[in-house]
Parts: sequence; C-alpha cells; structure tokens
Amino acid sequence: MERTLSIIKPDAVSKGVMGKIIDRFESEGIRIVAMKMIRLTKKEAQAFYAVHRDKPFYDSLTDFMSSGPIVVMVLEGENVIAKNREIMGATNPKDAKPGTIRYEFATDVEKNAVHGSDSPQTAMEEISFFFSKYELIGTER
Ligand code: CMP
Repeated sequence: MERTLSIIKPDAVSKGVMGKIIDRFESEGIRIVAMKMIRLTKKEAQAFYAVHRDKPFYDSLTDFMSSGPIVVMVLEGENVIAKNREIMGATNPKDAKPGTIRYEFATDVEKNAVHGSDSPQTAMEEISFFFSKYELIGTER
C-alpha cells in the first residue's frame, strides 16, 4: 500500500471542477485518507516548490500557486504514485492523453489543474509538508 500527495491547483478550484477531479480518484478505487482546502502564501508556495527555485518559471509558478485556494489530499492505494501520475496525464496538457485530468481540465503547462508526487521519497516529504500524522485517517496515534 502506497500514499501520495495530490493538489488540486487554483485554476481547477476556480473553474469549479474539484468535485470532478475527486470523483476521478474515487472511481479508480483510490482512497482519500486526508483532505483540506487551504490558501498558500507566496512564501509557502516557494518552500513547497523549492526544488524548482533555479527554474525560469519558479516565480510565476509560486505566484500562481498562492493566487487562490487549493485542495490538498493524501491518496492511498496500490501503486498509487504511478497510478495518480497516469490519471493526471503529462505535465504539459498539450502532451496529455485524452481522458486524463490535465487533458480535460488544464489550461497550460503552469496552470495544469493538479500536482502529484513523483516518487516515494517526495511523497513522504510532500505529505508531511501539509499534514501531521494525526490528520491521516487510518494512521495509528
Ligand atoms: P507540478 O507537477 O506541480 O510540478 C512543478 C510545476 O511547475 C508543474 O506541475 C507545472 O505547474 C510547473 N511547470 C513545469 N514546467 C513548466 C514550464 N516549462 N513553464 C511553466 N511552468 C512549468
């Protein structure tokens, strides 16, 4: 059993498609074990995306990620890191396959509707960025 962090980004929340995105995960048999709606400050967005701090899109990305509410979730299931990345589709919606979340709901490579952890190590770090272990359903206290 694996866990991963999923974020519904400000573009998807403002388009009113968060329910549709959550439905996709649930329809695939993925369990949501933690969820909350929050708004990041610019500083928090910079900290979350610190690995990208040298990229030319870092400032614009962190502006966008702090521009409105987001929904952060912990998804659980077998092989859920890879499965979530498949359901999301390619980072750039131009390359995303029909039927994926980004094909359907993303605007462009930055406003791409969702984020998902890319490895078990990042999943662990990203989950603990947003959630204490007491907020994860099914985790022993
Ligand atoms: P995400 O999966 O959240 O991880 C890093 C984010 O940076 C990515 O989704 C995009 O939102 C953004 N991103 C990646 N590449 C580019 C790019 N070339 N231009 C603008 N934003 C990008």
